[in-house]
Amino acid sequence: MRVDVFTLFPEVFEPYLNLSILARARQKGLLEVHLHNIRDWATDRHRTVDDEPYGGGGGMVMKPEPIFAAVEDVLGRPPQVPVILLTPQGRPFTQKVAWEMAQWPHFALIAGRYEGIDERVRQHLVTDELSIGDYVLTGGELPALVVIDAVTRLLPGVLGDPEAPHKDSFSAGLLEHPHYTRPAAFRGWRVPEVLLSGHHAEIARWRRQEALRRTWERRPDLLAHARLSDEDRAFLARLEAQRRAAADARPDADAPSPTPPEEA
Ligand code: ADE
Repeated sequence: MRVDVFTLFPEVFEPYLNLSILARARQKGLLEVHLHNIRDWATDRHRTVDDEPYGGGGGMVMKPEPIFAAVEDVLGRPPQVPVILLTPQGRPFTQKVAWEMAQWPHFALIAGRYEGIDERVRQHLVTDELSIGDYVLTGGELPALVVIDAVTRLLPGVLGDPEAPHKDSFSAGLLEHPHYTRPAAFRGWRVPEVLLSGHHAEIARWRRQEALRRTWERRPDLLAHARLSDEDRAFLARLEAQRRAAADARPDADAPSPTPPEEA
């Protein structure tokens, strides 16, 4: 897979891309990242890439000319590959989107800076916009690295275990089960006995149930789209029943308390 990144801060990328799994993916030729400094396509003496917004107001806006020139020089006019802008206004980047992008042989990422980017870049150059979450960063560099990281680990041959990405949180529609390694007892906290039993079917059942429990507790919204067996549904129904029983056993928090709270 080839990724062309257009940014004002290419130096941000190398240290992360030269580590661990991504470094190995690059060495094996599975990932090729081409970094381009948008400023190299600025044409004036000061190499200007931003300007004041028409209509006034605070903040600076990224000028369209250097971005168009950079992308079209590298990728053709019009570009022959998907051109993705990283922006908080984009479509949410999820594991599902990562799987889609992992099928693409080549795409480009534009990392924005300043208060915004000239709207004509969005309308006439970019094919899609992605957001990595509902918060605002100072630029699209970290989001671009997030996308490259999440997509690369899905490429065949990148992870040692080819099944690993299919077992990740979200890929199966559920959060992952807990993991343990040696020692079996640490500060008196024991690893669940079933994991030491060597009983593979029991271990698989425990993992499935803990994944369901975790998803039910932390991300119940995911359960609506997860593929669930009858046994999974029965387990979730038991969790619900336990929760209701625990709530019924508690004194009603809204009811007037029989004794006034103690004075502090
Ligand atoms: N640029 C700034 N914040 C961002 C976000 N949350 N996602 C993608 N790009 C961004």
